[in-house]
Order: sequence, then C-alpha cells, then structure tokens
Amino acid sequence: MTEKNYLSAVILISGRGSNMISIVEHQKAGNIPLNIKAIISDNQNAAGLQFAKDNGICTSVVDAKKIGNRDLFNTQLKDCVDSYKPDLVILAGFMKILTADLVNAYTGKMLNIHPSLLPNFPGLDTHNRALKSGHKEHGASVHFVTEELDGGPVIIQAVVPIESDDTEDTLSARVLTEEHKIYPLTVKLFAEKRLKCINNEVYIDDHQLKSTVTVNKNDITKDLLCLKIGAVK
Ligand code: GRF
Repeated sequence: MTEKNYLSAVILISGRGSNMISIVEHQKAGNIPLNIKAIISDNQNAAGLQFAKDNGICTSVVDAKKIGNRDLFNTQLKDCVDSYKPDLVILAGFMKILTADLVNAYTGKMLNIHPSLLPNFPGLDTHNRALKSGHKEHGASVHFVTEELDGGPVIIQAVVPIESDDTEDTLSARVLTEEHKIYPLTVKLFAEKRLKCINNEVYIDDHQLKSTVTVNKNDITKDLLCLKIGAVK
C-alpha cells in the first residue's frame, strides 16, 4: 500500500537479500513508515528477487553480465534508480561498486550495511580478516554512502564477540543476525526523518552524533525498533 506522506525508497541487492527481507518485513508490519517502490538487482538470479515478487513489490534487473560494459551498466543503473525518484536508496548486499555520479546524486540519501566494525576491514572477506586479526570483537556497520568505498559516515554498529572456536560460518551468522536488527532500525530513523547526514556529519533528532551508536548483542531485543535512540546526543 502506498502512503502519500511517506518517503519512498528502492533497495538494491545482488544475492539472497536477507537484509532486504528484514527491512521489508518490518515495513509490512507497520514499523517503518516508508513506501518501498522497487527492489533492483544487478543479477537476474538474485534469490531475493523472488521474495520481492511474492510480496508484490516491483522488481528491476539491470543485468551487469548481459550489459558487460562497466560504464554502460552504471548509466543504466542510475537511470533505473532515478526512474523511481526515491527519497532513499538502500544498498543491501549490493556487490557492485557504484560510480561517483550515482553516489553523488543521492548524497545523504543512500545507506549501506557492511559486515565489519568500520573502519576495520572495508572491502571483501571481512569475517576471515576479523578471525585472522586476533580482535576480540567483530560486527556490522550501517553508514551513509560516499565516494570512498565503505568510507562514509557510520551511523550504527552492532558488536558481537569473536569466540575462540569461531569459523567464518559461525561468525558471519552471528553478525548477520545483528544486521537484520540494525538495518531496519536505521531505515526506520531515516523514514521518520529523524536521521540526516549534513556535510558528512550524522544527526539524529537534530543532535550531531559525536560517536557512532553502538549496540551490543544484549541491547538488541525483539523490541529493537523501540530503542530509545532519541536519547543519543
Ligand atoms: C551482508 O553481510 C551485508 O552486510 C553485506 O553483504 C551481505 C548481504 O547479505 N553487504 P544479504 O544479501 O542481505 O543476505
């Protein structure tokens, strides 16, 4: 259902789309006042596209493999995103690096989730790198997107312990569970117009974040979406 006074969003995925699903489910439950206009993928075989179709959400594929040429792909991707005139672009496991052109068209209106405690481990293979690092903690970060890969201002991080017997699978599963909480929460704050990025600084309820909001596993209950984020100054 489209609500007239809600902000609109598109979600970009490349694969299974579990973060997209967690956002859509919260939106459908009425927790996030947002019109999700489309799920866009660079991969026609992305598993998450089926969920979108099953839930009556419009899907678009800008097929990177078929298009081949990187510049052409980026032009078509930007045209596709622009065609929905979104107030918010949500990157949820979107594996293509966006061009400056696209990123700069949505300054302060584009979010990404990255599976590490940024600035640790930007880029790929984050869980293995965390295991090898000897760090005691790992996690996920939601940030505004800038031209710098995984380098935009961080909004919220979820921290999980690294256990001595962790494998890449056990650690990534622990992190993913928390991703499914902090990403909907961040999107909710944006949808409620409580979260802004001005001159590369993050504001929640008009208070500039002096440091990232960090949530530990135990802070995050089923009622996460009621988290009193307004108290953060
Ligand atoms: C997640 O770990 C996300 O942090 C990263 O890619 C993965 C995507 O998973 N950017 P999914 O497609 O949302 O299940």
